[in-house]
Amino acid sequence: MKKLSLLPVAAIVAVLFFQAIPKSESNDHPILNPEAPALPADVKAIVQQKCYGCHNAESKNEKGKAKLDWDALEAAKKSKALATMGKITEELEEGAMPPARFLESNPDKKLTAEETATLMAWSTGKKKKSE
Ligand code: HEC
Repeated sequence: MKKLSLLPVAAIVAVLFFQAIPKSESNDHPILNPEAPALPADVKAIVQQKCYGCHNAESKNEKGKAKLDWDALEAAKKSKALATMGKITEELEEGAMPPARFLESNPDKKLTAEETATLMAWSTGKKKKSE
């Protein structure tokens, strides 16, 4: 019984310990988690609304699925994730995604300037201009 009562203390110590580890270990990309690039909530919300439909493992859009799968990205190793994020940055800079033809019939899926800025800040690891 004595041992059990120490469990909560051990848990607190463990939490404090892990919080003390500097988050900057992902050196070249401050926002990206080095283990798995879990998407920040604001990024995820935009992606889910405007990108995920074509870019997920079950997508019927074969071309889109082959080029980018957000689930795989979240599970990917850092180097691979960074390469994919580079591609995402390119597409965003060109304003190429979602595809123009798709937007013709789904104008509500167009990224706003603010959404593009949020995604770019994440994919490049840089802060938004306004911050
Ligand atoms: C209507 C479906 C659709 C939506 C929505 C969509 N995409 Fe795509 N995406 C595609 C298709 C199709 C391709 C492949 C284009 C090609 O090969 O010409 C693609 C390719 C890409 C690529 C890979 C480019 C390359 O050359 O490797 C990236 C990155 C990408 N999309 C990002 C996004 C982002 C970010 C969003 C949301 C803002 C998004 N897409 C929304 C269909 C979609």
